[in-house]
Amino acid sequence: MTKKIAYLPGDGVGPEVAGAARLVTEAAARKFDFPIEIKDCLFGGAAIDACGDPFPADTKEICQASDAILLGAIGGPKWDNASKRPEPGLLALRKDLGLFANLRPVKIFDGHEAKSPLKDDRARGVDIMFVRELTGGIYFGDREEGEDAAWDQCAYSREEVERVARVAFEAARSRKGQVTSVDKANVLATGRLWRRTVTALQASDYPDVALHHEYVDAMAMKLIQAPAHYDIVLTENLFGDILSDEASVIAASIGLAPSASLGAGGPGLYEPIHGSAPDIAGEDKANPAGSILSAAMMFRLSLGAPEIADAIETAVETALAAGHGTADVGGNDGCKAFADRIAGALSS
Ligand code: NAD
Ligand code: IPM
Ligand code: MN
Repeated sequence: MTKKIAYLPGDGVGPEVAGAARLVTEAAARKFDFPIEIKDCLFGGAAIDACGDPFPADTKEICQASDAILLGAIGGPKWDNASKRPEPGLLALRKDLGLFANLRPVKIFDGHEAKSPLKDDRARGVDIMFVRELTGGIYFGDREEGEDAAWDQCAYSREEVERVARVAFEAARSRKGQVTSVDKANVLATGRLWRRTVTALQASDYPDVALHHEYVDAMAMKLIQAPAHYDIVLTENLFGDILSDEASVIAASIGLAPSASLGAGGPGLYEPIHGSAPDIAGEDKANPAGSILSAAMMFRLSLGAPEIADAIETAVETALAAGHGTADVGGNDGCKAFADRIAGALSS
C-alpha cells in the first residue's frame, strides 16, 4: 500500500535540507519499488506569511492523515518580533499529534574523530541515543509575559514521565542496556517526580536495564569529559533540547544529527535537530545529512521499511567516510551536491 508522507520544508535552510531528504527518499523508494505519496504543506514562518498561522488547519489535516511527517526547520529573524512566531506552530504540531518521545541519536562516524572539537580519543566510540520528553515541562506550562516581569511554569505528571521512560528502557534493551536519566532533582519538584518515577519503573518493569541518574549541570560536563560512556540519555524537554545540541557537535556538526518524534500510534515526525540556520540560509552550505538520516529513521520507524533505512544510512556513512560532505564537516560539497551524491549512490 502507498505510504503517505507530509512534507513541511519550513524556513531558512529548512527547504534546502528537507529538499535533500525528499530527493533521497524518492530515490530510495524507486530503488526498492516502495510506493510513496508526498504532499507539500505550509508550515512555520512560510505559513505565517501565506495565511497568518504557523500551523494551518489543512497542514494539520494532511499530517494526521499521513504515515509520517518530514520536516525541515522553522523560524528566523524575520519573525522574531512579529505578532506571530513560527515556534508555537512546531510545539502545536508535536502536542496535537501526541509526539511525546523525541529520539535524537548522536554517533561519531568512522574517520570523523579528528573533526570533533574534542580530542580524538574522547570522541571515539560515541554512540548516544537521547530520549527527550517532547510534549510536557516548561515548554507547555502556563506563562505570563509582562514588561518588567515574566514567568514560565514547569509541570510534569507521573504518567508523562513514565511513558517516555518506557521508550528509553525499551530502546536500551536493543542497545547496550544502560539508561542515564538526567534531572535537577536537587532543586526542582519536577526533577524529584522525574527521578522517583523513572526509578520505580526500572525496578518494576526493567530490572535487566542498568539505570543511573545525573543532575543536568554535571551531565553537561560529563558529556564533554567522557561522551563514549553513555548509551541512552533520558531527560525532560528543555534539558534534552540543550544537551542534544551540545552532544551533536561532539560528533563533528549539528548538521549531522537526525531525530524522530513518536507517540502512541499515529504518524511520526522526522526532522534534523538543528534550526533554520539563518546565517547560512540560501547559500547551499547547509549540511543535509541530519535531514537525510531523519528520512532513514522514517523508513525504519514509521514506514516499516528497515532495509531502506539501512541503505540510506550506509550511503551517508560511506560518503562521509570517503571525506565527502559539506563545509561544516570539512568537505567540499554544497547541500545539493551532497544530496545528489546520496541519491545517486542509492540509484546505482
Ligand atoms: P540553528 O540550529 O539554526 O543554528 C545554530 C548554528 O548551527 C548556526 O551557526 C548554523 O549555521 C549552524 N547549523 C545549523 N544547521 C546546520 C546545518 N544543517 N549545516 C551546517 N550548519 C548548521 O540555531 P539558531 O541559530 O539558534 O536558531 C535559528 C532559528 O531556528 C531560530 O528561529 C530558532 O527558533 C529556530 N530553530 C528551529 C528548530 C526546528 O525547526 N526544529 C530547531 C532549532 C532552532
Ligand atoms: C528543537 C528546537 C525547538 C525546541 C524550538 C524551535 C521550539 O530548538 O527542535 O530542538 O526547542 O524544541
Ligand atoms: Mn533545539
